[in-house]
Amino acid sequence: MIKTNENKISIRYNRPALANYQLDALFNDARYAIVESSTKAGKTAACLVWIIEQALQGKSGQDFWWIAPVYGQARIAFRRLKAGLPRESYNPNESELTLTLINGARIVCKSAEKPDNLYGEDVYAAVFDEASRAREEAWHALRSTLTATRGKVRIIGNVKGRKNWAYKLARKAESGEPGMSYQKITAYDAIDAGILSEDEIEDARRQLPDNVFRELYLAEPSDDEGNPFGMIAIQDCIAPMSSSQPVCFGVDLAKSTDYTVIIGLDANKNVCVFERFQKSWNETIETVRRVCGKTKALVDSTGVGDAVLESLQKDSRSNFEGFKFTAPSKQQLMEGLAVAIQKQEIHFPDGVISNELEAFEYEYTRTGVRYSAPSGMHDDAVCALALAVSIASQPVYEWEEEETTSEQTYW
Ligand SMILES: Nc1ncnc2c1ncn2[C@@H]1O[C@H](COP(=O)(O)OP(=O)(O)OP(=O)(O)O)[C@@H](O)[C@H]1O
Ligand SMILES: [Mg+2]
Repeated sequence: MIKTNENKISIRYNRPALANYQLDALFNDARYAIVESSTKAGKTAACLVWIIEQALQGKSGQDFWWIAPVYGQARIAFRRLKAGLPRESYNPNESELTLTLINGARIVCKSAEKPDNLYGEDVYAAVFDEASRAREEAWHALRSTLTATRGKVRIIGNVKGRKNWAYKLARKAESGEPGMSYQKITAYDAIDAGILSEDEIEDARRQLPDNVFRELYLAEPSDDEGNPFGMIAIQDCIAPMSSSQPVCFGVDLAKSTDYTVIIGLDANKNVCVFERFQKSWNETIETVRRVCGKTKALVDSTGVGDAVLESLQKDSRSNFEGFKFTAPSKQQLMEGLAVAIQKQEIHFPDGVISNELEAFEYEYTRTGVRYSAPSGMHDDAVCALALAVSIASQPVYEWEEEETTSEQTYW
């Protein structure tokens, strides 16, 4: 509530109910509070409250920064701030993502994409959200900005491997560095506080590869630096090429610069066919037909793949099934592959397949986990393998070719 007398403003503020772990982690005296947390445990929400409280204690000419890795996330924070404050308590600038509060202090939402924009003056406190996904230069810029004011900062995020500045800073804080506090928040803390539901977490545990679940929900960094399959698990699945007959195929089609890859699995899910080539569409269709024959095959039907699949299915060859890659369908497909690798249910030869698997990365986004090859690298073999593993678990397809008899032509 805000009352203004002639030149005196009194603000009555009630802090929203927060869980004890949110209060302990962030509302303490440490100048630097570092929090490694489960996803959806309420770290952003608690920090929005924290930055508002800091700004309410500030005055005209003082800035309070909210920093997110990319502009879109800074915008989300801006919207959440507005949604949490009474309309009469701030004056927004939509293009600059700033809120000027009734006391004249400003909350500024910024992206860490251009660290040069994080050098400033008169910044009295800051939150760095999703720190493990932002560049180290951004942190250096922010720290130098806060030097003059000795402003406090809250650095929060999910964990992501061990090779990032947020991980290193968290270890410093954990070891008791003066002026720093450290807290780890797991999904179980959030369940106890009633913020997350147990069912949701158990579902995530079943669906996600173990190392992804541990990073996302238990805040335990993976040793595999963002590899969803696990380096050791990949090595454990390496075996010579099988000489048994294929029972299913995965086919990833070349798009602009990459390769078409056909992978066949035998009845024990060992790779027994591996073809990788760049050809015209007609030759590609011909090769896929020849290699797969009448055996069931799951074919990438994304974009131009749709027309290719249609050609493959001509002559009622319904042993060819299509798979459209979208962010969620790729996530599900790759998680199936990760589980198969971690349980050593499949085997593949050393070389292109194992190299692509080792280079593969996952990244957390607001909508889920994104799986892809690092830029400049290929993931066609990974996709073909994942398609083959997916179709391998479906019932065996028996396809009988109908001979066209001379009798039939009369009828
Ligand atoms: N103390 C609380 N009581 C009830 N609900 C809460 C509390 N804190 C946060 N929430 C709710 O939990 C949800 C997740 O919160 P928030 O977005 O802050 O989590 P996060 O840890 O930042 O998640 P992400 O991993 O997506 O960044 C939101 O809907 C938020 O409103
Ligand atoms: Mg968040």
